[in-house]
Amino acid sequence: MYNYVEDGDSKTTAYVEKDQDKYQQFMARIEAGEKIEADDWMPEEYRQALIKLISMHGISEIMGALPEKEWTPKAPTLRRKLGIMAKVQDEMGHGQLLLRVAEDLMKPYGKTREDLIEDLLSGDLKFHNVFHMPTKTWADAGMVGWLVDGAAIMSQTNMLDASYGPYQRALQRICQEEVFHAQHGEAIIMALAEGTEYQRDILQESLNRWWPALLMFFGPSTAATTGSSKQDIMIKYRVRKSTNEELRQAFLDKYLPRVFSLGLTVPDETVHYDKEKQQWIYEQPNWDEFKQIIRNKGPKSKERLRLREIAYENNRWVRQALVPKTVES
Ligand SMILES: [Fe+2]
Ligand SMILES: [Fe+2]
Repeated sequence: MYNYVEDGDSKTTAYVEKDQDKYQQFMARIEAGEKIEADDWMPEEYRQALIKLISMHGISEIMGALPEKEWTPKAPTLRRKLGIMAKVQDEMGHGQLLLRVAEDLMKPYGKTREDLIEDLLSGDLKFHNVFHMPTKTWADAGMVGWLVDGAAIMSQTNMLDASYGPYQRALQRICQEEVFHAQHGEAIIMALAEGTEYQRDILQESLNRWWPALLMFFGPSTAATTGSSKQDIMIKYRVRKSTNEELRQAFLDKYLPRVFSLGLTVPDETVHYDKEKQQWIYEQPNWDEFKQIIRNKGPKSKERLRLREIAYENNRWVRQALVPKTVES
């Protein structure tokens, strides 16, 4: 899933490409709607921004499978168990696909997918804020599919026409699978919403807990006007179309009416639609907390990183078996 998230204070300095002729040709290509391929010339700023975006996206797919994996043995029926297993498998596949795209971009620096896993474990590579959160009840498994994958579809649809061909093609495939994930989540939510009082209670409790993390999902709404923030760079290079706040508004537009129609509430009494401004008004989540979460200081950050580390160590022999042995002289 998951788009690149800014932590709000990471402005980049203005970039000036040395080779202006090549830069102008490159900009003309993307403005004409052409796709850039891995071996094509590209400005350093574009390559670096893509590596950051795609590696964060890829690693979040993998880390995102962990909270749902916790519910695989505890799913209430065999059908649900099969559904959640299939989703977990899809997410790992998305991760692999994206990390391969990132690896091609990192070739000039000699960096590999293994290095990205090392970066994750050392804390240099961040993963999405929602996957630092606990999944306490079965309702959380539904909430992740319904609203987290729902938010992911919004941010990925925003990049379906991205100027970088390998990423754009990967997103086309990923988005198709994400739609199934959202439907799987919605089916769990609907069953709980139509269920017993206890089931409705755990559903409401889950939404109350997930609400701030869902608002944080798209990142802070730092104005995309300076030309130097990460979202500006992505818009300039036609990787994404909308700003963080535009995406959050589209998410609220789509899901708040559904939330209310199920008789659920959100834990924010100020939430309403302002017809004049044509936007949802809501209380800002705590963005300082957001920064802490994505710096691996969230409630489940350490535990999930440890799980990934154990899997990485246990599977080392598989990776070694796949690498052709060097001939010793
Ligand atoms: Fe995914
Ligand atoms: Fe998904």
